[in-house]
Amino acid sequence: MRETTSELTIRAAGRSDRLAVCTLLQQAWHSAGGARWDQLDELGSRCTALLAQRNALTVAFCLFDLRTAPAAGLSAVAVADREQVGEAWRELWWAAERYLAGCGVQSVHYIGDAPWLLEILEQHGFRQANTVVVYEKMQDGAIPAGHAGVRVRPARSEERDGIVAIDAACFAPLWHYPRPMLEALLKPTTRLSVAELDRRIVGYQLSAQEGTEGQVIRLAVAPEWQRQGIASRLLADTLATFHRGRVRRVSLNTQADNLAAQKLYERFGFQRTGEELPVLEKAMAPEG
Ligand SMILES: CC(C)(COP(=O)(O)OP(=O)(O)OC[C@H]1O[C@@H](n2cnc3c(N)ncnc32)[C@H](O)[C@@H]1OP(=O)(O)O)[C@@H](O)C(=O)NCCC(=O)NCCS
Repeated sequence: MRETTSELTIRAAGRSDRLAVCTLLQQAWHSAGGARWDQLDELGSRCTALLAQRNALTVAFCLFDLRTAPAAGLSAVAVADREQVGEAWRELWWAAERYLAGCGVQSVHYIGDAPWLLEILEQHGFRQANTVVVYEKMQDGAIPAGHAGVRVRPARSEERDGIVAIDAACFAPLWHYPRPMLEALLKPTTRLSVAELDRRIVGYQLSAQEGTEGQVIRLAVAPEWQRQGIASRLLADTLATFHRGRVRRVSLNTQADNLAAQKLYERFGFQRTGEELPVLEKAMAPEG
């Protein structure tokens, strides 16, 4: 793809553009989102970035994560300081809409709070669809034990497809963790464990520890096994692991309309920090 409008050339980025993308992301004042290397490594396949170039210089880009297709995430945007932000975005988005529709994308979302980007996205038809709310808990006090018959243990690599299937059954496409995304999160600092009941995997959790800070990244229980104390069992195990690792503060987030998760977290003594991130979404016009 190559679109040329008013001296700006718009083209899809390849892996060789990773440095230009990262440099712009770090240096531009109008920069939002944090493209991770795993996303940039997926450029051209499961992630796509469109670049705006002026005289062969990259002056703006937008990066979309397609791993959750047909929902796509706008992961990062940056516009060089000398450029007109509104104009650069208009041209990028004009090309992006057609490109994404051609990839079968049905909706695009942005989770973040960069005011300049929120304003521009709203001008281009994005609307707030949800809010991510952040919770925290200091490591103290009694916690519920959960389902006594459930065994929580580290996940085996051959169980990852089953975990991804539970995840897909639990979340709307916008929030899915397909296998490449799940695997990109597995590091020495993260812990992926499953809840096993009668030899079946009925739920999972993913958490991370950095120093004395713990984060519950993901918690999900297969729909047919919910309301039986399984998430409580997983969360209790995660908090006990954090306790052994001398974690002092545990944070997590969920959606403002996810009352089940909020009730669960509040039962465990989590409290809202007040930090919130808007979730903006736009449906793509069908192709043709
Ligand atoms: C949220 C979720 C993990 C809870 O799993 P679960 O195994 O059903 O939770 P538990 O049975 O341990 O519930 C413990 C408590 O949480 C609260 N709770 C859980 N689900 C609830 C629901 N649907 N409605 C209201 N309260 C609920 C209740 O207080 C419950 O205690 P109770 O059953 O004695 O009333 C599960 O609903 C799920 O996987 N949802 C989809 C994925 C998700 O939202 N994950 C977390 C957000 S990132």
